[in-house]
Amino acid sequence: MSMASFVHPVLAMLAALLGGLSAASDPEADPYFPVFHVRPPENWINDPNGPFRDPRTGLIHLWMQYNPGGANWGNMSWYHVVSWDGVTWEHVGVTEALRFNPSKYPYADAGFYSGSVTLVNGSHPIIAYTCAGTKAQLQCLAWPKNTSDPMLIEWQEDPDNPVIASVPPGGLSITIFRDPTTALWDERRQLYLMHLATSLKGAGGEAAGAPVAAVVGYSADSSFRRWSFDSILLQENYVPRGMFECPDFFNLQPTEADDIMSPAGIWVLKLSMMVVTLDFYWLGLFDWESREFVRMGSAVPLDYGNYYASKSFFDPVMNRRIIFGWVREYGLSNGKWAGLQALPRVMEYDSQYRTLRVYPLPSLDGLRQETLYHSAVPQVLSATSPLNLVKPGGSQQQEIIATITFPQDLFDIEPEAFLGLRIREVSATQYASVGLTSNPLGGQILNTTDIPGIDYMNFPMSPHAPDAANAQNCSDFCLNDLRCVAWTYVLPGQTRASESGRTADATPSCALKTFATAAQRKTSACCVSGFVKSPLLILDTSSSGTQGAKFTTGGRARVMPDPDVAGRARVSLHVFNDGSVTESFKDQGLERLTARLYIPEMDSAGVSVVAKGTEQATLETAEVYALGTIWDKQSSQQYPYFL
Ligand SMILES: *[C@@H]1O[C@H](CO)[C@@H](O)[C@H](O)[C@H]1NC(C)=O
Ligand SMILES: *[C@@H]1O[C@H](CO)[C@@H](O)[C@H](O)[C@H]1NC(C)=O
Ligand SMILES: *[C@@H]1O[C@H](CO)[C@@H](O)[C@H](O)[C@H]1NC(C)=O
Ligand SMILES: *[C@@H]1O[C@H](CO)[C@@H](O)[C@H](O)[C@H]1NC(C)=O
Ligand SMILES: *[C@@H]1O[C@H](CO)[C@@H](O)[C@H](O)[C@H]1NC(C)=O
Repeated sequence: MSMASFVHPVLAMLAALLGGLSAASDPEADPYFPVFHVRPPENWINDPNGPFRDPRTGLIHLWMQYNPGGANWGNMSWYHVVSWDGVTWEHVGVTEALRFNPSKYPYADAGFYSGSVTLVNGSHPIIAYTCAGTKAQLQCLAWPKNTSDPMLIEWQEDPDNPVIASVPPGGLSITIFRDPTTALWDERRQLYLMHLATSLKGAGGEAAGAPVAAVVGYSADSSFRRWSFDSILLQENYVPRGMFECPDFFNLQPTEADDIMSPAGIWVLKLSMMVVTLDFYWLGLFDWESREFVRMGSAVPLDYGNYYASKSFFDPVMNRRIIFGWVREYGLSNGKWAGLQALPRVMEYDSQYRTLRVYPLPSLDGLRQETLYHSAVPQVLSATSPLNLVKPGGSQQQEIIATITFPQDLFDIEPEAFLGLRIREVSATQYASVGLTSNPLGGQILNTTDIPGIDYMNFPMSPHAPDAANAQNCSDFCLNDLRCVAWTYVLPGQTRASESGRTADATPSCALKTFATAAQRKTSACCVSGFVKSPLLILDTSSSGTQGAKFTTGGRARVMPDPDVAGRARVSLHVFNDGSVTESFKDQGLERLTARLYIPEMDSAGVSVVAKGTEQATLETAEVYALGTIWDKQSSQQYPYFL
């Protein structure tokens, strides 16, 4: 099939569609609206759904949770976009078979929730999704109506929907049973195996009120229609992360040879954890026989910031796993639209650090329009005055890449050090900062100390254990979560001055923070606190002039040695600003930090480099680009990937 035979009618249709909606996507009219992030022209969106590359046409398809009627959550339907290259996109619109319609689909009278596409037998795309009823969440399938249509505009529901019509054995709640993964092919048993998030009766039994968050497997033969309960992949206590949703379970091949790797590659289980609204993943090994997932290490946040309900797919053309994630509004709604998809990110196993690197798709460089700054000449940075790269004014769609070298022990010896960027600068006093900073009390345990301020997690501990053991557990939990920079153990019977809603009771608790300063701590008999010994990657929006919440968020950051100079370290920051969203990647995606900034000023596009606490930091290279739109149909035709 040639591209020309169908692209033109589609583009004509899209031009008509977009023509009527241009006001919503005009950055002059709405400075918060993204230009190079995927979302429909209006209304609410959340989770990315069903991404896959169609091997017959080369098109990448992506859906997302969508409310066709408003900018708030509700009436969940699937909104469809397509791309040749994962960079530039075209709107297809709501998939009719997945449009909220309780009279037509009574089993989905609460909506069509998240799901995945599986290429059955390698070539038949089938959507598995949660048909959410007010009485139960069950699972449904949709099949392409016309497999000759490369856009796959029309889908039809399986006549046997819901194909999974009852909850798993031991299921506690029929209102948490959802979000099927892309099915894996079990070669030995000749079965497809997909996974779902649910809650089961815990060891304490239902009566004991001990539910566990669980991921369960369901399997079917290659017809993909007769599903039955298969296995339990994972069970976890509800406390402290709450229920799971949006599982993603897949295999990654290492990029380099590694001694610990089995030849079968490393397995990744990603879960979205509702209480903390954060995506975590575990690395591990999967035993096909026992269906057991053996975790290696602790849960790692996929992003330190505003990034949730992510969903990945393997792209055989680029030979990469690509992940999308939902970035929600944060304390602001304009009544017209809400939410966007984060940039497509490549997910790779890093065998040296035994972690995932998740970095922006390299071909996003195709969006670069104008070079706003470029230097490969090392420049020594001043500890007192920032080095301005781009003046305020100009494009708010920017890509910034900067590499800074500095003394390796800087963050250990200088409590006030900060190395990084001022972004969205309006003036010398209005900007957001992203970069590395010290955690000055790192490694200390402080008796009779509280750290007031926002906790990202707060959970009860054993009322029977000695305080020293509980404090140790709280500290260990913090150490095991890279997002955690400080912890507070609240002794039994104590109330924290900072804590709203908690009255003194016998239950001790553990509170964790993603950001805290030494100055924030308060002497109080309530608590024992501690700071983690590590530099931090932070985004500080407190001086940014943002509408909505102003805060500092972040997590722990590894400091990498400079391969060229002994005793020095090197950090690379890669930042994308687009309307009201900012995504930062440190050291080729070793850490990630996504956030929203609602800055009304149109001239808020200044960029500077800052080195606080040292006269020995050097800006090695820096580049700033103005980026163009992803809805540019011309550039989308540069990548014809027909197989
Ligand atoms: C859902 O759709 C119905 C019917 O169109 C409408 O009355 C209702 O307001 C919608 N709910 C939301 C949350 O958009
Ligand atoms: C299926 O799609 C092809 C390609 O777009 C189109 O030519 C054909 O008319 C469609 N068939 C039906 C039954 O809609
Ligand atoms: C996959 O192939 C098998 C064997 O040919 C066939 O029985 C099955 O129906 C196919 N599945 C689909 C969804 O086409
Ligand atoms: C903190 O309290 C514990 C238990 O009472 C005690 O063992 C420890 O020495 C104290 N640490 C400091 C720094 O005061
Ligand atoms: C501390 O953690 C261990 C291991 O995670 C757990 O078995 C123990 O019950 C915990 N103790 C308390 C006091 O919470």
